[in-house]
Amino acid sequence: TSSIIANSERKGIRSDLLQMGEKWVLMKTAQTPTNIAVIKYWGKRDETLILPVNDSISVTLDPAHLCTTTTVAVSPAFQQDRMWLNGKEMSLSGGRYQNCLREIRKRAREVEDKERGIKIEKKDWEKLHLHIASYNNFPTAAGLASSAAGFACLVFALAKLMNVSEDESQLSAIARQGSGSACRSLFGGFVKWIMGKEDDGSDSLAVQLVDEKHWEDLFIIIAVVSSRQKETSSTSGMRESVETSSLLQHRAKEVVPKRTIQMEEAIQYRDFASFAKLACADSNQFHAVCLDTLPPIFYMNDTSHRQVLVYICWIISYVEKWNRSEGTPQVAYTFDAGPNAVLIARDRKAAAQLIQRLLFYFPPKSDTDLDSYLLGDKTILKDAG
Ligand code: ADP
Ligand code: DP6
Ligand code: CO
Repeated sequence: TSSIIANSERKGIRSDLLQMGEKWVLMKTAQTPTNIAVIKYWGKRDETLILPVNDSISVTLDPAHLCTTTTVAVSPAFQQDRMWLNGKEMSLSGGRYQNCLREIRKRAREVEDKERGIKIEKKDWEKLHLHIASYNNFPTAAGLASSAAGFACLVFALAKLMNVSEDESQLSAIARQGSGSACRSLFGGFVKWIMGKEDDGSDSLAVQLVDEKHWEDLFIIIAVVSSRQKETSSTSGMRESVETSSLLQHRAKEVVPKRTIQMEEAIQYRDFASFAKLACADSNQFHAVCLDTLPPIFYMNDTSHRQVLVYICWIISYVEKWNRSEGTPQVAYTFDAGPNAVLIARDRKAAAQLIQRLLFYFPPKSDTDLDSYLLGDKTILKDAG
């Protein structure tokens, strides 16, 4: 028998308690959206603690569209920590998972359900094992920041299960040790990951710049041209860039510090012209760093489909031309470590025009495809690969 003991403590969090005779399983389920960087994180100064070489800024997407759902469960019946990702069991032996689990366990506190006579004392958390099941409702490891939503959700769900009292910024420093970009998904709206100065990483954490209501006109369109797993993971790609690209050094020291200040201002004043200029320039410089890496990394066409290349070139040149012809920018583009475009339109009208053009030049294969691409009125997912 299963019974829900408390629901919706906060949006996206749910508690369940399963009882089978004497045995019990306590569960928390959380939902966390992905985030897309408009000032990119690319390069670490510490590989283990995941400390970046520059600050970064991102926008967190609407949880209704691209998100991770993770259930964490604890029971005296569990023999070992186990995890399933998208239905397949995976190993938890990697340092990143172990670091997150250790840091959260350290902060675990007492949990008590008097009615059912269940009590987990602080010290019990060291011995109790966990089962974790996580699903991404979008392609994993395809350059749409699954590691960001994934680790943020894992840390948040574990913190709730273990009654951890740390706030979101403190939790972000733990999620960071799972995947750098994950620290920014603990907040909605626009978020900054402050690189920090300390060697122990204690000041390398995320803060919210503005919440999701601050700039409601913006429309974000994600064009999924390929859901194939990328050939070079972000982790190894940025390691190779740090080792071989002199452009990366210049970018981290000279370009990003100034750009971060300008981007914060553009967000604060909802100045779309500056926002678009900075976001496009930063995406282009990040991919220039990838090309400056030895051997070069081609994220924007690493699936090597001709169609994908045509698509990317079309998006960049169409947006650039359109922005110039209007006199004031209508759309910003940004590409992460993959060929999928993230397009940010200044308002509903620009978004509608853009979607119309995308559908005209890259028509869906059938009407049923079209229905499934149009999710609500804000997101269009297109698989041209
Ligand atoms: P992406 O561009 O999707 O972030 P990365 O190479 O940065 O690609 O990270 C992909 C890795 O992140 C996966 O191989 C897996 O280890 C981890 N990951 C993805 N989704 C989850 C999840 N929901 N929970 C835990 N880890 C996840
Ligand atoms: C291009 O956070 O995936 O998306 O810290 O090694 O897990 P690890 O890398 P990850 O890198 C993201 C890189 C990026 C830019 C960004 O999100 O800022
Ligand atoms: Co990632």
